[in-house]
Amino acid sequence: MERLDKILASQGAGTRSEVRKMIWAGRVTVDGEICRSIDRRLEPSEHEIAVGGVPLCYRKYLYIMMNKPEGAVSASNDSHVQTVVDLLPPSLRRKGLFPVGRLDKDTTGLLIITDDGAFAHSVTSPGKKVFKTYRATLDGALDEADMRYLSEGAVIDGGEQCLPAQVAVLDGENFVYEIKIREGKYHQIKRMAQSVGRRVVALERTAVGALTLDPALDRGEARELTERERTLPLTN
Ligand code: URA
Repeated sequence: MERLDKILASQGAGTRSEVRKMIWAGRVTVDGEICRSIDRRLEPSEHEIAVGGVPLCYRKYLYIMMNKPEGAVSASNDSHVQTVVDLLPPSLRRKGLFPVGRLDKDTTGLLIITDDGAFAHSVTSPGKKVFKTYRATLDGALDEADMRYLSEGAVIDGGEQCLPAQVAVLDGENFVYEIKIREGKYHQIKRMAQSVGRRVVALERTAVGALTLDPALDRGEARELTERERTLPLTN
């Protein structure tokens, strides 16, 4: 059971003080009856709560897929630069959201944003070994020896040993490769490319486990994950 003002604030209806004013003003109904007590305790999934006549679609946690654009940082808030959370439309904003793992500022593509810490852990924990799939455009071709080196586990600068990766050619003429990794070392794909004398020109994440980037999402757009997407196997 939670307090009415807390429920409304947690669902992005406004700040705690804003939602209190709405409740006092009689704009909030519970099962069709105006409720003016901010401290009314209820189980949100068992009641129909509405604000200004609009039913609240209660979700304990939010699970969002974003097609991250270049230039946004993978953080919740930063007073100097635009974050991925700043880009969310008002309907998907609420306190406590954070990106699951990090993509570099210049990396684009699939980023999950949630406020469910346990779910985030199941994706990012090194022990879970979730495959992350990238489409990497390099400054030149990888030869067979390079591909073998990366797929057997590259040693990247500083002597860090990577786990074996899966590397496939997507567009040989334009040096575009699909690279799948099961870990998330700092700048890992860029440093793996460097380890074979190549530079990453563009990097896009296309999948996390079995969850693939929705091609209908333009860069910077986001939507909630469907129930099916949220429960897809992340380990494979
Ligand atoms: N590897 C990188 O180098 N950058 C990313 O953003 C993700 C993986």
